[in-house]
Amino acid sequence: MAEVYSIISGKGGVGKTFFSINLATSLSELKRKVLLVDANITSPNISIILKIKNFEKTLHDFLKFKANIDEIIVKTPFGFDLIPGSIKIEDLIDINLDRLDLISKLRKNYDYIILDSSAGLGRETYSTIKISDETIVITNPEKPSLMDAIRAIRTSEILGIPVKGVVINRYKEDINLSKVEIILGKSILGTIREDENVRESFNLGIPLISYLPESPASVDILNIARKIAKVEEVEEEKRPGILERILKVLGWR
Ligand SMILES: Nc1ncnc2c1ncn2[C@@H]1O[C@H](COP(=O)(O)OP(=O)(O)OP(=O)(O)O)[C@@H](O)[C@H]1O
Ligand SMILES: [Mg+2]
Repeated sequence: MAEVYSIISGKGGVGKTFFSINLATSLSELKRKVLLVDANITSPNISIILKIKNFEKTLHDFLKFKANIDEIIVKTPFGFDLIPGSIKIEDLIDINLDRLDLISKLRKNYDYIILDSSAGLGRETYSTIKISDETIVITNPEKPSLMDAIRAIRTSEILGIPVKGVVINRYKEDINLSKVEIILGKSILGTIREDENVRESFNLGIPLISYLPESPASVDILNIARKIAKVEEVEEEKRPGILERILKVLGWR
């Protein structure tokens, strides 16, 4: 039975989608069955970032009663399944957010369901939080982002969904993490370093974890995934080399 996590933030643009994609990839590499849902209803972008085109129906069709749940699941070359969103503006009309509840029907098929949510803490984000077992709050280390992280934590708790932990993205080793834990009143699940390769992986449409597994942000996200999946490093199989990974991603292996 899958555990369902929504990735939320108070402030937009802090790295929710980057983290969601790479957490899904890492958990898949740890041999877990993962479904990633692009629950950013107003601005879905995962299928665009990953250049995934092999689908006809989207989460929006499902929310408009135009598709069944199993018609909107796509296999990706990165080990996880994806529910993509529609980028058509007209698809935002007449959607029924309550239907998101039915995603829990898919629990039996996966170990983890990860919901990438929208910027900010509006109605859309409430709907994704409400169908989760726990939320993971992501923030940047700067003060305005941390202040908004407190709002995200409170929102989750008001909705009755516990916060699994906080992820500090774009971390530089100049902040006092224990102080941040005290300010937020939550434990830090992990930090992800600022990494210049993130942009390149976005441009290529390959998760950083698959493209450059030794890159600082990849190492950090894999550590978070291990913590979530309760996997010790020794349990892992030998990781394939970079050439092997790229060939696999391109479908040549
Ligand atoms: N650790 C990092 N190092 C360097 N750049 C990063 C890092 N994390 C994210 N970025 C960059 O930050 C930008 C925003 O990331 P992302 O799209 O994941 O944010 P988001 O929270 O999903 O935004 P939105 O709220 O609009 O959905 C991306 O262009 C990405 O390249
Ligand atoms: Mg996003």
